Amino acid sequence: MFINYEDEDRTFTLQTKASTYQMYVDPHGYLLHCYYGAKIEEQNLSYLIQQQDRGFAGNPPDAAGDRSLSPDTLPQEYSTFGVGDFRESCLDLHNFHGGIAADLRYVSHRIYKGKQKLQGLPATFGADSEVESLEIDMKDGVSEVVVSLQYSVFPDDDVITRSARIVNTVRKTVELSRALSMCLDYQIPAKRDVITFYGRHMGERNLERTPVRHGKIRVDSSRGASSPHQNPFLILCDHNADEIQGECFAFSLVYSGSFMAQVELDQIDQLRVVMGIEPDRFSWELTPGACFQTPEVICCYHSGGFDELSNQLHRFQRKHLMRGPYASRPCPILVNNWEATYFDFNTDKLLDLAQVAKEVGVEMLVLDDGWFGNRNDDTTSLGDWWVNTEKLPGGLTFLSEKLHEYGLKFGLWFEPEMVSPVSELMQIHPEWCLQIPERPGVTSRAQCVLNMGLSEVQNYLYDKMSEIIRGANLSYVKWDMNRSITDAYSWELPIHRQGEVWHRYILGVYALMDRILTEFPDLLIESCASGGGRYDAGMLYYSPQVWCSDNTDAIDRLKIQYGNSFGFPIKSVGSHVSVSPNHQTGRTVPFETRAVVAMSGSFGYEMDLTKLNQKERQIVREQILRFKDQRDVLQTGTYHRLTNAQTDRWFTAWMSVSQDRSRAIVNIVLLAPIPNAPILAIKLRGLNPDASYRDRSGNQYTGRALMKAGLVVPPLYGDYTAVQVELWQV
Ligand code: DGJ
Repeated sequence: MFINYEDEDRTFTLQTKASTYQMYVDPHGYLLHCYYGAKIEEQNLSYLIQQQDRGFAGNPPDAAGDRSLSPDTLPQEYSTFGVGDFRESCLDLHNFHGGIAADLRYVSHRIYKGKQKLQGLPATFGADSEVESLEIDMKDGVSEVVVSLQYSVFPDDDVITRSARIVNTVRKTVELSRALSMCLDYQIPAKRDVITFYGRHMGERNLERTPVRHGKIRVDSSRGASSPHQNPFLILCDHNADEIQGECFAFSLVYSGSFMAQVELDQIDQLRVVMGIEPDRFSWELTPGACFQTPEVICCYHSGGFDELSNQLHRFQRKHLMRGPYASRPCPILVNNWEATYFDFNTDKLLDLAQVAKEVGVEMLVLDDGWFGNRNDDTTSLGDWWVNTEKLPGGLTFLSEKLHEYGLKFGLWFEPEMVSPVSELMQIHPEWCLQIPERPGVTSRAQCVLNMGLSEVQNYLYDKMSEIIRGANLSYVKWDMNRSITDAYSWELPIHRQGEVWHRYILGVYALMDRILTEFPDLLIESCASGGGRYDAGMLYYSPQVWCSDNTDAIDRLKIQYGNSFGFPIKSVGSHVSVSPNHQTGRTVPFETRAVVAMSGSFGYEMDLTKLNQKERQIVREQILRFKDQRDVLQTGTYHRLTNAQTDRWFTAWMSVSQDRSRAIVNIVLLAPIPNAPILAIKLRGLNPDASYRDRSGNQYTGRALMKAGLVVPPLYGDYTAVQVELWQV
């Protein structure tokens, strides 16, 4: 049993291998948070909750003069607005008369093996032997709305997931103006930092660390997608935590739409973490009997630094979040024609590319943007999902047959959620586009957004996409999304329900992905939003590979992939070798370095391979063979950031160790050559201390020596040189 309820003292204890989470139902029915942290067995921890008379705190009607009873100063499991808690609320409930309040008290609970799916949403999963779940029903006695707090415990992964289902049990309609997924209160003060990941197009996932201060530290997106600007993932850690020590907690929202994540420190140093759907413009009508399901949050704990925390998250998401065969199966090594041709291609060019690709060992050709409608630049044709036979005589079927003859798989780009004003679809169905009445509408990259909440839109896209996937025998779809959502308005919803549009949009995207994967369970979807603009745990459920950034410059990628590795599995990182000088930065980087960086991800090429001379083709052939040999270690082994890629000046280093610790690959990239440089020794991680390892030159070291004294790297020379050191256990 990982979840235990003690009837006598009304405590719920959730145990993982190394962490404990405990809450307690107080005599008034409040569900109070006692503890989340390092494992403590067989202890009622409610003594940690200290109830004191705090000046002028609001007391509920049943306090009966007890001024120490206040939701504002007690650690809540799910905070609500309107009944005395003035910290961030998870639930703003508009009662049928318009008053905003909900006072949730314990009613009942259920504990069961396994985990239920979340209606319409991506969520973690596991077998009955791997996960146990708890649902605690909390009721607002006046509106009779019931909130079921959902907890699942994955003991082996030190993960606890949380979400909430809000049910209207009575005959009157109520409205939600916020419904967050999780509240976590730490009542005992501690010096902590919060780590978030900000960015921009072509500069995603920069780590930002700040000491928690009084007030609120909030990251969010109101763009309709999780966005490159902030990510729905954060780490709360000890002030002195680093890669190898210190207590840390990760929180990852399994959601791809607008979100908020916030850490708040109040006047008596109580800390509250909340996460969920961005509440500022959200609303949801709950008719009698209806329920609202919030997205899930993955909570992960580790007492010994970020390295282990990330590795736990990587393992967990590969096993319990990424659905479909590619969570464990190697993804094909691909060549994508985008940076090779942009819009300027035809069947012959693609077949030339395919021929060289096959010759050097590539496994799949991906045809990117521009194969449909009249799309010769980015101003037209989104929505017109039929093949441009001027560019591709014989259509996709002919191309696909040829590729399959060469022994290559075929992948294709779509941007399903969008429509170009200049398109046949827009002429026929202008009402499918998100548009506010009487407003001209905002375009971005010359495109508008379809109302994915409409079933007609989902059906149209499903019909078009499934016909093409079937007809062209596709193994892969690149699912792009290249603009933020504006003009969020749906003609099918009444005035007071327009706040539902954003969430209905993303539910529509999920429904479409789900339908497609149900019909084509072997299809690999690589999600993309102008690069890493929708890289979140929600997308990972459908899409085990995510195009990490439109910036393919290997030196910039060091930073982007470093930031990304804190929260997301290495296997999921879409990363390609592109041409040098790089198209985005103009920087010249050696071929080997470009490959070493791309190998710490999905690996593929994004360049015109036909332009390579024989020597370069041989280099590519060898890179592919090397990657095939190393793939398992790189993608499913443990990953160790040996330096801080975002602040490094001399060199950046990272390594991967196979699951059985018998093999390791250390990567070092020189950022700035130093003549007459100091000796460079890097302390490795993740090895078996008692084992002996040998490198390619036959040198032998114990794991302990490599981890305590370090690996000596030969002097590095030249711009952006990469060195890869492989180690095998002897
Ligand atoms: C943005 C993507 O991130 C690129 O890789 C490429 O697919 C273009 N869109 C195509 O328009």
